[in-house]
Amino acid sequence: MRSRSIESLIQAAMSVRERAHAPYSQFKVGAAIRDETGAVHAGANVENAAYSMCQCAEASAIGVMIAAGGREIKEIAIVGGGPELCTPCGGCRQRIREFAELSASIHIAGLEGYRRTFSLAELLPTAFGPENLA
Ligand code: THU
Repeated sequence: MRSRSIESLIQAAMSVRERAHAPYSQFKVGAAIRDETGAVHAGANVENAAYSMCQCAEASAIGVMIAAGGREIKEIAIVGGGPELCTPCGGCRQRIREFAELSASIHIAGLEGYRRTFSLAELLPTAFGPENLA
């Protein structure tokens, strides 16, 4: 059985997904991060009539985490509709990398609930990250 902490993270992502601004794609996404203190930070995608300005849910959630003082992504849940796994886009994998160890868990859910968990290492192998600049 999955832990209650994963289920609560998915629930937070599902709730914030409802508030997404996605009038162009109609594809709402929610993301919820658990930080190093256990606090949860959630964000949704925010689209724009100038399409290239669209912001992914993961980027929104990271902004909320930083504003709240969180500094590390321990795990993140992402919820999106459709039959495919709503895995983070390439850019968001790199955004997550900035604040997460390669062992961090990325939980993917659909509207019906949990689907699959990846490590960041699986989604972004041999990643470039902050250590490269140390
Ligand atoms: N989107 C996310 O917010 N996160 C993902 O992981 C994949 C895609 C958003 C961007 C855009 O607003 C919509 O989904 C369709 O691509």
